[in-house]
Amino acid sequence: MTDDTHSHWSQETRAIRTGHQRTAEGEHCEPIFPTSSYVFDSAQEAADRFSGETQGNIYSRFTNPTVRTFEERLAVMEEGESCVATSSGMSAILSVCLALLKAGDHVVCSRSVFGTTVVLFEKYLSRFGISSSFVSLSDLSAWEQAINRHTRLLFVETPSNPLTELVDIQALAQLAHSKDSLLVVDNCLCTPILQQPLKLGADIVVHSATKYLDGQGRCIGGAVVGNKKQVGEEVYGVLRTLGPSMSPFNAWVFLKGLETLAIRMKAHCENAQYLAEWLQAQDDVKQVHYPGLASHPQHHLASTQQTAAGGLLSFELNGGKQAAWDLIDHTRMLSVTANLGDVKTTITHPASTTHGRLSEEQKQQAGISEGLIRVAVGIEHIDDIKADLCFQ
Ligand SMILES: Cc1ncc(COP(=O)(O)O)c(C=O)c1O
Repeated sequence: MTDDTHSHWSQETRAIRTGHQRTAEGEHCEPIFPTSSYVFDSAQEAADRFSGETQGNIYSRFTNPTVRTFEERLAVMEEGESCVATSSGMSAILSVCLALLKAGDHVVCSRSVFGTTVVLFEKYLSRFGISSSFVSLSDLSAWEQAINRHTRLLFVETPSNPLTELVDIQALAQLAHSKDSLLVVDNCLCTPILQQPLKLGADIVVHSATKYLDGQGRCIGGAVVGNKKQVGEEVYGVLRTLGPSMSPFNAWVFLKGLETLAIRMKAHCENAQYLAEWLQAQDDVKQVHYPGLASHPQHHLASTQQTAAGGLLSFELNGGKQAAWDLIDHTRMLSVTANLGDVKTTITHPASTTHGRLSEEQKQQAGISEGLIRVAVGIEHIDDIKADLCFQ
């Protein structure tokens, strides 16, 4: 889908201008096509579409013009050949696995990924003969050791949520390819504005569009981006058959989200940087995790691999769980909710919510302490965000 017409455009322009084929009505805004099926001019045309002799719409589980506009736009922004939109971020990850793995295959996954992704690998894919191992995100030697002759896929999120740990995508892609495996990157936290994993050697990018791509907490959706064979044919085949398709209305909301993504990400990152620096100076705060801080162990990697440090940070309070809950309960403006990537700042206590199902040992391994708080920094005025965090 990436073509010469768009390759010279900046990300800001691609996010606004790519994908829309204006109809005979001359509309300026991308139209929504709320239709489940499409009409053919003749029996012959129907037969040709169904047999694949000619290209075109048949049924919205397979293709829809509004969804296609979103897919083309995101493909161009991630610099991939093909994009398949899905009904959620989880169905994007599931579709990749069903398309590219089979019984007997093995997956190596970062320990610091979204909890439901771990459940997908451990509980569900294992039932179909796909095994998985979990390793520390930034430890390349641990990745190498975990790979065996059945390994087909490495899966990461970078930076991780909530501790903002990174992995060197280029180095991990090289390792994956030297072992005949694919590297899949969940680029939900960075978006293509801050990081383009395919350009760094990753094979596939997945998104939860629910987060920054929407940006205003309205719709659930996802996407897979990669090459024509793996994504355009294999992942698309899964979507067409199993049906986790994106609705045209949601695709339209995500298109509108993409149009403001660059300026929102800039504002999220600026606010997060201010907040991280301010938190570091608070007596009650033991440690701040944010790649934009010089104290972050991978600050240099973040500044070369990403164009900015991101909108998510976490910090540990000296007073443990009680101090964390008190701080959250004293907020009046911040939203106490687990979603992220919204213009509204959200605050979460990971140990009792997003990571609540982990055992004490697993929490310790993942670095999720009782005093840890995650903030997905929104784009309200930074003074109002700071004022809502009342350190006693
Ligand atoms: C990094 C990451 N990937 C994937 C998902 C799953 O996305 P969805 O909720 O759209 O299925 C989430 C959801 O929180 C997430 O944070």
